[in-house]
Amino acid sequence: MAKIFAYSIRKDEAPYVEEWKKAHPDVEVEYTDALLTPENANLAKGADGVVTYQQLPYKADTIEALHEAGISKWSLRNIGIDNIDLKKAKELGFTLTNVPVYSPNAIAEHAIVQAARILRQDKRMDDKMARGDMRWAPTIGREVRDQTFGIIGTGHIGRVFMNLVEAFGAKIVAYDKFHNDEVEKKGYYVNSLDELYAQADVISLHVPSLPENIHMINDESIAKMKDDVVIMNVSRGDLIDTDALLRGLDSGKVFGAVLDTYEDEVGIFNANWDQKGVPDARLDDLIHRDNVLVTPHTAFYTTHAVREMVMQAFDNNLLMIQGKEPNTPVKL
Ligand SMILES: NC(=O)c1ccc[n+]([C@@H]2O[C@H](COP(=O)([O-])OP(=O)(O)OC[C@H]3O[C@@H](n4cnc5c(N)ncnc54)[C@H](O)[C@@H]3O)[C@@H](O)[C@H]2O)c1
Repeated sequence: MAKIFAYSIRKDEAPYVEEWKKAHPDVEVEYTDALLTPENANLAKGADGVVTYQQLPYKADTIEALHEAGISKWSLRNIGIDNIDLKKAKELGFTLTNVPVYSPNAIAEHAIVQAARILRQDKRMDDKMARGDMRWAPTIGREVRDQTFGIIGTGHIGRVFMNLVEAFGAKIVAYDKFHNDEVEKKGYYVNSLDELYAQADVISLHVPSLPENIHMINDESIAKMKDDVVIMNVSRGDLIDTDALLRGLDSGKVFGAVLDTYEDEVGIFNANWDQKGVPDARLDDLIHRDNVLVTPHTAFYTTHAVREMVMQAFDNNLLMIQGKEPNTPVKL
């Protein structure tokens, strides 16, 4: 009987692990809520593969410990592989899978909701209401349909976001290094980021954090944008130079920002700082601005997406155990 051992299964994932288990009575499944460490890698001893998800690094010692526990088939429940010592994994003969697409709608829906909220100045209105101040002015909204949305990156998430923006009746300009046929047919592409910055009222980032994209939103790019621009990042924190964004907000050039990611988020997001205080002054500053909506990398965090991450990871792992090609292998 094949056996899979899974690490760091959260309470919200456990029902989906149980669902997968029920659908695969011929596979033994065991799991823990603990993150994978060199010390607990031996929990996987006797299993044919492991399923994991964590943001902390999988260093060489962790991978060596997994290897010593007899594991070589490793399935991630997420997309990111930047926290893995890939050289060590390759050297020790691991085969690895990830889940590159689990629910683009989860992220795109979050983005459109936040875009509409920032344009309506909802945070300011909520604050006024909480204080019993029910005057209308000066908290007047901007309609989504009146905006030109600049969508940077027309991959899985960017394209779903585009469909949602279309439903509001807004104008769209898009930029991507590689053109998608559907988007091309609609005539949305502009030839350069500069053209997009010059036209867009709302700029939304949907590109990965490749070296060339790091701090793509900086003082220079913000200077090229329209006054009262809205900047949205539901992708990766390091796409934005946070200091430059703060300067743009301070000067009034930037109307507002939507941030589901932050460049120094690791170790801060998905933890409870209530009573202790947020341990990062820039993040604390952003959170307390009435024209910035910060969420702790939760755009993906829906029941649909979490289920997909679990199901696809276990499916991949079983395919590898059966000696078959997994659905989404990671090339090492
Ligand atoms: N906030 C969240 O919870 C969350 C969840 C999942 C993914 N993400 C992030 O969303 C982003 C997009 O994910 P996706 O699944 O749509 O990826 P994808 O690979 O489907 O699309 C990315 C697109 O960006 C384009 N691109 C890359 N570099 C570019 C550049 N410099 N200029 C223009 N275009 C460029 C690519 O050609 C591609 O079309 C990623 O950064 C991912 O990490 C965030």
